[in-house]
Amino acid sequence: MRKALVAGNWKMHGRITQNINLIDDLVKQLSPIKESVSVLVCPPLVYLNQVSGLLAEAGIEVGAQDVSRFEKDGAHTGDCSAEMLADIGVSYALVGHSERRSEHQDTDAVIALKLKNLLQVGIKPILCIGESLEQREEGTFEKVIADQISNAFSGLSVEELSNVILAYEPIWAIGTGKTASPDQAQAVHAYIRQMLASDYGSEFSEKVTILYGGSVKAANADQLFSQPDIDGGLIGGAALVSEEFTAICRAAATSPKNG
Ligand code: PGA
Repeated sequence: MRKALVAGNWKMHGRITQNINLIDDLVKQLSPIKESVSVLVCPPLVYLNQVSGLLAEAGIEVGAQDVSRFEKDGAHTGDCSAEMLADIGVSYALVGHSERRSEHQDTDAVIALKLKNLLQVGIKPILCIGESLEQREEGTFEKVIADQISNAFSGLSVEELSNVILAYEPIWAIGTGKTASPDQAQAVHAYIRQMLASDYGSEFSEKVTILYGGSVKAANADQLFSQPDIDGGLIGGAALVSEEFTAICRAAATSPKNG
């Protein structure tokens, strides 16, 4: 059985005092359910150290929102390497979020390098994939998603990939309030699992965690997380509101799939 995971992507939000208050609420409200759901928060880079300090021993993990494509220390102004993230105790990192793909020229080849760098230092990458509205309407979205995955995974063995998590985030649903319906999301998750089974084997495809992201909120989390192939969520806007985020975590923890 795959354990549910809920990850909060804070994007470019947060301030020292605001972070203290939010983390304080999360720690209190999530402590009774932490056995049934893994919870992760991804603050902006500059607050990673602060947030990991606040979360020490709370059972909530800390993740980065991105990583450098360069593996070694060097003249890469503004970059932060996977080794640096590991050095401060970061355990997960988002890779290939659609905002990085569109705003920072993160091509599939760049994403493959980032994924490899993270795996090499033992950080679990959360690879974000998803189609635009145009690609959905044209009917090419399955191929778009399959290509995003196989390009990111290229050159890596099944063993090396065992720590990877996937997050299906249709671009048209991110921050728009337009969630994919549970059936639409389930259909894509099932497709991804099937594609992974044929390319990397059924043992891998059954084990891999696949999150859904795109306007998840307390009101729709139950229905999304009760789908057989949706193992949790990557939450943007709602991750900044403690009542919303904790209700989403509770929905994952109490999903009928968790027994
Ligand atoms: P959203 O963002 O929940 O605000 O739609 C999700 C994401 O971009 O990870």
